[in-house]
Amino acid sequence: MDEKLLAGLNEHLTLEFAASHHYLALATWFELNDLPGFSTWLRQQSQDELSHAHRIIDHLLERDQKVILPAIAQPENDFENAQLAVNTVLESEQRVTRSIERLYDMAEKLGDRGAILLLQWFIQEQMEEENAARALIGRLKLAGDSGLGLLLVDQELSKGTVPGAMEEPEG
Ligand code: FEO
Repeated sequence: MDEKLLAGLNEHLTLEFAASHHYLALATWFELNDLPGFSTWLRQQSQDELSHAHRIIDHLLERDQKVILPAIAQPENDFENAQLAVNTVLESEQRVTRSIERLYDMAEKLGDRGAILLLQWFIQEQMEEENAARALIGRLKLAGDSGLGLLLVDQELSKGTVPGAMEEPEG
């Protein structure tokens, strides 16, 4: 594998692990604020981010490439309100998307078909994750300052999916 692409994929691991950490921090904050549905959804998101990191790790190992695990910074643990907290999910997903797109461009220039296939899965996944974050932000805007509205959104999220969001990709 090309050295720069290998370094890029290893660096990208930081974003996936950091997102997992960030979502778990958010999950604890929501649970402490009596919104267990948000917490359930965010714990699942945190697990999904770990599985994304593992997907890249597996790809590198299948190709006999060195994996370099990153240090993960402490995430933010306090949030002003639910709306601002969920905004940080969208920002995180957008950062990940930009990184995946850069890696995809690199893989395409190099003609690395294996990496292209890997990154195509991530492009689809990112579209769905950004869509879920936007759908949730939309729901929260509708709820406004109403505690009852927030509880309704929380109840919907207790099923583990975001109402109005696209389905997760297979695999
Ligand atoms: Fe793995 Fe949500 O980025």
